[in-house]
Amino acid sequence: MGRISAEACGACVVLTWTGSGADRWANVPIRNGALPESVSGGVHQILLPRTVPLLRGAGGFVVEEHARSGSLEGAGLSRKDCMIRITRKIEFSAAHFYHNPNFSAEENRRVFGKCNNPHGHGHNYVLEVTIAGEPDPTTGMVLDLKELKDILQTEVMERMDHRHLNYEVPELAGQIPTCENIAAVIWKLLEPKIKSGRLDRVRLYESPELFVDVSAGNGARA
Ligand code: NI
Repeated sequence: MGRISAEACGACVVLTWTGSGADRWANVPIRNGALPESVSGGVHQILLPRTVPLLRGAGGFVVEEHARSGSLEGAGLSRKDCMIRITRKIEFSAAHFYHNPNFSAEENRRVFGKCNNPHGHGHNYVLEVTIAGEPDPTTGMVLDLKELKDILQTEVMERMDHRHLNYEVPELAGQIPTCENIAAVIWKLLEPKIKSGRLDRVRLYESPELFVDVSAGNGARA
């Protein structure tokens, strides 16, 4: 048999099963300030994965079931079960145009339209960088936001702000500087610099109506 531990957390109690089936737990809202008898009486049972659905709605109590790993969101989670994300936003201005040297001039005009104009055009890009992790108990911070600001200044602003992305950013050499490719380059620049927490998402707006997200596994190309 495993072991049950209970942790009060505001209006809820988090019951954790540490035996077999440890990947499941239940978050039981407390009614009248106490654990419902019908729940506490069968507490072992409700934490067994196969029996949790049977308890849903039983006796009028709502039982929320969560996976223990991965992204956890919702009320009443204990700190060790939470994933916290912080985001810093910066803006930079840059010029670009789209051109594939393997296309004919006609193909380039057809595929890229006005964006193929070799004189380029500008955008005011907005970049949101999200770091995920647990707050350090001594500072309360996932990552020092001043440190993140300095990283963004060095890795993004100094490279890309007021630059022509087709000519002046070595990391984009040989790539069409689409919002997708710029965001992927920014991910690759930032990811090794984040020492507290981990880089969770890079979101790059080319305009208020268009943005690209890069996250682990879909944008960190070699
Ligand atoms: Ni453009």
